[in-house]
Amino acid sequence: MTATMELAPVRLVTPSAAADRASPIVRLAGVVRTYREGGLSTPVLKGVSLTLSRGRLHMVLGASGSGKTTLLNLLGGIDRADAGDVVVDGLNLTTAPNRDVVRFRREQLGFIFQFYNLMPTLTARENVELALEHQPLAASARRARADEVLAAVGLQDFRDRFPGQLSGGEQQRVAVARALVRRPALLLCDEPTGNLDSESGQHVVMLIDTLRRESGTTAIVVTHNPALFSAPDRVLHIKDGVIDEACGHA
Ligand SMILES: Nc1ncnc2c1ncn2[C@@H]1O[C@H](COP(=O)(O)OP(=O)(O)OP(=O)(O)O)[C@@H](O)[C@H]1O
Ligand SMILES: [Mg+2]
Repeated sequence: MTATMELAPVRLVTPSAAADRASPIVRLAGVVRTYREGGLSTPVLKGVSLTLSRGRLHMVLGASGSGKTTLLNLLGGIDRADAGDVVVDGLNLTTAPNRDVVRFRREQLGFIFQFYNLMPTLTARENVELALEHQPLAASARRARADEVLAAVGLQDFRDRFPGQLSGGEQQRVAVARALVRRPALLLCDEPTGNLDSESGQHVVMLIDTLRRESGTTAIVVTHNPALFSAPDRVLHIKDGVIDEACGHA
């Protein structure tokens, strides 16, 4: 893989984010999420409250089934809380109309899903290009940016393959490229190195941190590896449906 991700700057930090870097980007207050299915009720988040600072690297730890993916889905506007406020850059995702949530996802968010969620009928390059479809870019520029980020994750020779023709780790790196290509204001990463060898994993960590430093991106990274980042700004532990606040702030 190449050592750096050299991307032409594209404005992706929203004017509101740029205007007030000191305000928290995320505020959760009393967030409750219970899954209900066929008479079965699974309480997962039982009143999560916290604020997260802009431009920082947050690491989220917790046992399997503790609610890490559930939390990221709420932060990414993919799922809604049953109660409480999930406010991201001033937008309350619990109550906002769908069109505002969709715009937030398009304009502000990069999401590396735990199980990648690549489009199986699109090539690696097309999957990454798709993340740029609402950007004011010519098709050639879109392709060039997609190729640049695919090269940054070491997949320059794999860009015309479909996900089904890639290994798990290669698919994960396509998912990383797709999330990073927009230089999002908020980057949510669900075990982004779970399927990678340690060298590739460290490279992805470096790309995330480079994006954060260069673009002011706020990164929230779920992992089972407490040593993934040598110096995260903040470490959050999810346990028993709440965030363990004993573990420090930034
Ligand atoms: N759509 C759903 N319907 C019902 N239960 C669900 C649903 N999604 C998740 N759960 C349950 O909610 C709990 C939290 O799930 P979640 O995926 O957030 O855990 P996690 O911390 O991400 O775990 P892992 O580390 O294994 O990825 C689990 O007990 C899970 O079985
Ligand atoms: Mg999970």
